[in-house]
Amino acid sequence: MRNEIIQRIEFLTNEIKKHNDAYYNQDAPTISDAEYDKLFKELKSLEAQYPLFAKPDSPTKKVGGVASDKFKEVTHSPRLYSLDNSNGDGELEEWFNRVSKEARNLQTVCELKIDGLAVALSYKKGILTVGATRGNGIVGEDITENIKQVNGIPHKLPEPIDLEVRGEVYMSISSFEKLNEENEKTGQKIFANPRNAAAGSLRQLDSSITAKRNLSFFGYTVFFFGENKPKTHYETIQKIKELGFNTNPNIKITNGIEEIKNYVHEWENKRYNLDYATDGIVIKLNDIMTQNEIGFTSRAPKWATAYKFPPEEVWTEILDIEVNLGKTGAITPVAIMKPVSLGGSIVKRATLHNFDEIKKLGVNVGSKVLIKKAAEIIPKVIKAETPREDIYLPPQKCPCCNSDLIKPEGEVALYCPNAFGCEAQKLARLQYWCSREAMDIDGLGGTILEKLMAQGFVNTPDDIYKLSYDDLMQIDLIKDKSATNLYNAIQESKNRPLQKFITALSIRFVGKETADILANNYQNIDELATADELKLSEIDGIGERIAKSIVSFFKNSDNIHIINNLKELGVNPITQKKEKISNNLEGMIFVLTGTLNRPRIEVEELIKSHGGKTSSTVSKKTNYVLAGDSPGSKFDKAQALGVKIINEQEFMEMIGQL
Ligand code: IVH
Repeated sequence: MRNEIIQRIEFLTNEIKKHNDAYYNQDAPTISDAEYDKLFKELKSLEAQYPLFAKPDSPTKKVGGVASDKFKEVTHSPRLYSLDNSNGDGELEEWFNRVSKEARNLQTVCELKIDGLAVALSYKKGILTVGATRGNGIVGEDITENIKQVNGIPHKLPEPIDLEVRGEVYMSISSFEKLNEENEKTGQKIFANPRNAAAGSLRQLDSSITAKRNLSFFGYTVFFFGENKPKTHYETIQKIKELGFNTNPNIKITNGIEEIKNYVHEWENKRYNLDYATDGIVIKLNDIMTQNEIGFTSRAPKWATAYKFPPEEVWTEILDIEVNLGKTGAITPVAIMKPVSLGGSIVKRATLHNFDEIKKLGVNVGSKVLIKKAAEIIPKVIKAETPREDIYLPPQKCPCCNSDLIKPEGEVALYCPNAFGCEAQKLARLQYWCSREAMDIDGLGGTILEKLMAQGFVNTPDDIYKLSYDDLMQIDLIKDKSATNLYNAIQESKNRPLQKFITALSIRFVGKETADILANNYQNIDELATADELKLSEIDGIGERIAKSIVSFFKNSDNIHIINNLKELGVNPITQKKEKISNNLEGMIFVLTGTLNRPRIEVEELIKSHGGKTSSTVSKKTNYVLAGDSPGSKFDKAQALGVKIINEQEFMEMIGQL
């Protein structure tokens, strides 16, 4: 039981950190807010029950992202807080009961929770001096020039006062749709939702790009540094409105839980009429003195809560079913929907995953279905109003190249086997090659790649590196400056780390995580290409299925030809291993657990530079478990399996550094 709890806490901590990074730093979330909140809540509750097992760097103790290195750092004072959530009326009542016990003034203010990005704006003597992102709540990024391009933020106040206003920068739904439409035409990045579009627009190094994006602002927190401070939150908001800030007009003073619930439920539906995305309601105690008395936890005010709207679902109709071809040749059915508004954007497509799913749902063209925002990227069909017998049947042939489709044993997906002849499959692979997750070639998206393919410039990834400036200029969408940028972006991608290169190859079952493991175990692509199945499957995290797929990928002469061409063209993935210092740890596998004196990454590098390997799980193959303070379940597992446990000092002795 104890081990299970420790393991669960570790799992949740890592998952949440990963999702924080995807949301705050990559502007590309991979799970929905509701799913994230569920993980977060579970971790918080486990930590409350078992505080001893809580990780010192738990994400429940801090807010959000990490400042990126593109902009100057700004230290927030006071820090930017987050909000604790209430899901449903029950939790809202619990919050209200809690504050009722402590608050001398129970009046509340209800506001819409805007789904954008928090920013902090400081004014000195009435002049906007610094505009910063939230970052991790303590340190953010200085984006002053970009902030000046946002509507609703005055550059100069009518009074020469010192002030800090915090609020949300957002992109209206109409601007978001317009931007995506334009980007689709010009082959640029398509944003998943208005929030990501706002984030991408605000963190531009060139503020003229931000200016074109039509961003807006609502202020919701103010620090006055002077006399005559307003006594309530409501008055504060009125005051900044007078000073020229945009504030949300739907703010309301409420007295008692019933009025709060009425507001919340009123907006559950009314929010769909707004031209901006909201993901909940924020309820705050109105009296500032009472707020100060009640105070904060390490990450959020106790005097406020965010009522989160339930994940959005909506009924619509399937107008058509298309089949998409992925980078590995897998065929995915996609429902073309009667357009409906969902989660702040108009939805026209929803995934049906695979043909087994179609059977399970009982759907076909004309079915009335319930769709839901899943990973925020593309919604999914959850159920049919009336499941049907005459369902949509899987195609027998590839819709692009007409090859007979195959269904490998034990898999649900259908595949087109014509990897090098099928244009749709080749395009999907090229698109993935250029994506952020893989070689990250900024500006080389689907539309441009399609044109490059159609004009015979590009067929496989190696061709990308043969493109000259003149070739690019022959594509009608590419103008002079963008040809230069694109050419430079292609050249720059030649030195991506090995794990990105492995990811980009689109080997079946080898996604980002597996590529990381492989890059940790092989020095370069040749080493990986010559590894046999047995060696591969000995690596922790690489199962038999993945090992087979890797070996068969490198057996294919077309793949080898492309890789050799890439090497000749200077695509040279930077090897992971640092210079070898010694062979002291040759062939040894280490697992790290607990808090070490040195950063983990440094210890891992040390192990590798002395010839050893690291793994994330303890097994019989593990030679040593290196345990720091408060070790986790790996410690227990090592004991159970009789694996030798050493401390940091012993480890340093092993590599001759003590
Ligand atoms: S108050 C100390 N009010 O929601 C108070 N936040 O999930 C902290 N947000 O970081 C924030 N609308 O980015 C507040 N009306 C509103 C808001 C709001 C959106 C965002 C804000 C915050 C996040 C917390």
